[in-house]
Amino acid sequence: MKRCIPIGLVCEFLENPLGLETRTPRLSWRLDDPRPGACQTAYRLVAASSAAKLAEGKYDLWDTGRVTSANTLDIPYAGKALRPRDAVFWRVMVWNKDGTPSPWSDAATFEIGLFGRGCVTALWIGAREPRTRPGMPAPLFRKAFSLDGEPVRARLHVSAFGDLEMSVNGRPASEDLFVPGWTDYRKRVQLVTWDVTALLRKGENVLGAMLGDGWFAGTMVWPDHRNHYGPSTAFLAQLEVEFADGTRQTIVTDTSWRFTEDSPVRSSDHYNGETYDARREHQGWNSPGFTATGWQKAIEIKNRPNAAFCARLADGVRRQQRLAARKRTEPTPGHYVFDFGQNMVGRPRLSLRGKPGAAITIRYAEMLNPDGTIYTDNYRTAKSTDVYICSGNVIFSHSDKTSKAEIYEPHFTFHGFRYVELSGDFSVPPKCGDVEGVVIHSTMAQTGSFECSDPIANRLWSNLNWGQRGNYFDVPTDCPQRDERLGWTGDAQVFVRTAAFNRDIAAFMTKWMRDIADAQHADGAFADIAPDVFPVANAGHCGYADAGVIVPWTMYLTYGDIGILREHYGAMSRWLEWWQGVCTPDGVVRYRDCWHYGDWLAVDCPVDEDGNPVREAAPTPTDLLATAYFARCAGIMVQVAKALGRKEDVRRFAALRRKVAAAYRREFVTAGGRVAGDTQTGYLVTLGFGLVDDKRTIARMVDRLSYLIESRDYSLTTGFLGTPLLCPVLTRFGRADLAYRLLQRRKYPSWYFQILDGDATTMWERWNSYSSRHGFGDVNMNSFNHYAYGAIGEWLYATVGGIDLAEPGFRKIRFAPVPGGDITWARTELATRHGTTSIEWKRANANATALEVTLVVPPNTTAVLELPGRAPSELASGRHRLHVKPAAR
Ligand code: BGC
Repeated sequence: MKRCIPIGLVCEFLENPLGLETRTPRLSWRLDDPRPGACQTAYRLVAASSAAKLAEGKYDLWDTGRVTSANTLDIPYAGKALRPRDAVFWRVMVWNKDGTPSPWSDAATFEIGLFGRGCVTALWIGAREPRTRPGMPAPLFRKAFSLDGEPVRARLHVSAFGDLEMSVNGRPASEDLFVPGWTDYRKRVQLVTWDVTALLRKGENVLGAMLGDGWFAGTMVWPDHRNHYGPSTAFLAQLEVEFADGTRQTIVTDTSWRFTEDSPVRSSDHYNGETYDARREHQGWNSPGFTATGWQKAIEIKNRPNAAFCARLADGVRRQQRLAARKRTEPTPGHYVFDFGQNMVGRPRLSLRGKPGAAITIRYAEMLNPDGTIYTDNYRTAKSTDVYICSGNVIFSHSDKTSKAEIYEPHFTFHGFRYVELSGDFSVPPKCGDVEGVVIHSTMAQTGSFECSDPIANRLWSNLNWGQRGNYFDVPTDCPQRDERLGWTGDAQVFVRTAAFNRDIAAFMTKWMRDIADAQHADGAFADIAPDVFPVANAGHCGYADAGVIVPWTMYLTYGDIGILREHYGAMSRWLEWWQGVCTPDGVVRYRDCWHYGDWLAVDCPVDEDGNPVREAAPTPTDLLATAYFARCAGIMVQVAKALGRKEDVRRFAALRRKVAAAYRREFVTAGGRVAGDTQTGYLVTLGFGLVDDKRTIARMVDRLSYLIESRDYSLTTGFLGTPLLCPVLTRFGRADLAYRLLQRRKYPSWYFQILDGDATTMWERWNSYSSRHGFGDVNMNSFNHYAYGAIGEWLYATVGGIDLAEPGFRKIRFAPVPGGDITWARTELATRHGTTSIEWKRANANATALEVTLVVPPNTTAVLELPGRAPSELASGRHRLHVKPAAR
């Protein structure tokens, strides 16, 4: 029997989170009800302090009673006041459109962490040496203790200034890697909570820890820039175990822990890689029964930042997938190169065979040189090299005895690579089966999928999805492989909408917005990177700093998250004040007062008949871009203030927006509709940000923009800021035909060129990062995994596929596919917070305007279908099949 049932219960965007800081977390669910017009008319949410009480209907924490409401999202907990360590078990029932009640949902839970005075009693401990030299071993720590009974609930709370790996009785304490994640450790450090109940037992137990340098003390930004946050790595652990009789035992880090620097991890660094000497493994060091001879007492680390603990707001960085090596070559004797067929981020898992002391060198590359050797120049100073020294002994606990090999996966490092090169003193040369690629990134569910009749467009979608996978590594980074890997705000800002289609990034961005806010300067300028690790101030650059307004706004649009706007409203408003401080009295931003990156890496040069650049042309004026972004942010703030019900601010921001837009027109737009610089990007920001409203001027601009594309053999000349606007703006102003020509263009510069000429499996930093004719692009900045140009993704989803939003949070969906190019069908899906929506359209051939459309509108939402040349039609939730007659041409 079909019925309505609440499913997918989440708390602060996470499933059953532990260690929350807020006492009023927001609870959400969605409806499972395929019937047409399905919706919620009321709900009842109940909460209890144990699973048993919840099941028995003893709601000792909260019972909302029947609440008449259609809302399923972000209902703040308003039950009995919660204290640190409290666990809450909750469930929900709903009434459907006929007033029929549903059964109860499955139970979900959340827990408050150790946030409260005196909760954390553990000490920050470390090894003696400050980590000021590169190439120091990652110390091992252990603590043996005895439990008086069988645990019924055990929580391990950890934090670190460095990268922490913890174990309980020899087993990993969690799947999380690079713990506790990257924040500005001078201000905040995350306190991470794991459920370790199943790993403990009555009697002797052991906690083990290994501590790497990580973002805290390892190499950052430049080769000799280490110890950005401090000299000494340290960690803290507090294990709280509860027994059936209600008693509790707590084990904390203190100087009774033992450590050794005689560690197999001889050195480890994010950029440079790891050296691992398997001969130095201490068998059983993190299990009961080990005698820690020669281990020393741990040191309390007092010389550390005075950071406040904060909860971890997003799921951690974890191993997500393993890829098999597809091909082995030997371009020079003894150097074996393995190809995964996919540029990825993570590290390898290797089965190695060598005599004791045999050193095996592991190097990485995204591309190959013409002779088949690995191309590493674009890593710049990042050595990205791991060395494994064989124990020669395959009976160690970490070894896979059946294959008689030593298994190695590096610990406190990660690499961006498609190829792995192994060389050294093997006793048996490695085969493909010995080499796996472990894909590592932040945990975020895939929400979007896109497929159409053009296989190259599908590959482009895959590439930009992989671009996100490689670069959403605790923070959104520019690139994952060279000596950079930083939270560049500009790159993240242009890609964020695409990213939010691809994957559920609500929690990830909630966390990163705090990093952005932490990096805001006192004068209101948002920094270029967050967390900000530049030794010299870099802030207030257009298209970059604006991320501080654009990212939370995009989160609100995608997820309906009003909380992120509320939390950062002050910071967002201060950013506009900063803009006002640097512009002329009439609202124009001038170069002499502030420098900008401009339309970063724009092509902006004519091409010859082969599509190769022939000479540099004038770039888009940065004053124009800055003033345009200023106006855009003011426009967004009008919407933000509206959403928050701040009427006075709505008026204030609207006046500011009008003033800046008028100044922009006066300064940069001629009476005939020419935009200063006459570049594609100039027209794109003017049209895309709505800076002109006179219809005739708009028409002239669209013509000029089209001319600038057509007269260059249908090629784009845009950089990071212009490119994301290209296809959406052309489509919006009636030139979807041109947008499709750009998409499907095969020659340089284009998206398809990277795929067809360069076999790209991720997005490249430059349009010409490589070409078979000219070889590699400028090595100073030549990443093959840079997602900015992947911002075309939002247009693939919204226009080629046809899923967009009509109301924040997809409460109302806008299906507006615009079929074009030679694409004859497209199938697109998006898991919204209300459920999965999808659209599939088909046409007989590339000229046909008759369409067959199948749509799914999730329960509790509505939709509007807008097709070219036809009146919009409203749709209720459910599945719809439509045969749409040819449109008048
Ligand atoms: C990064 C870019 C970034 C730029 C800003 C580069 O080094 O990789 O993606 O936007 O700097 O100038």
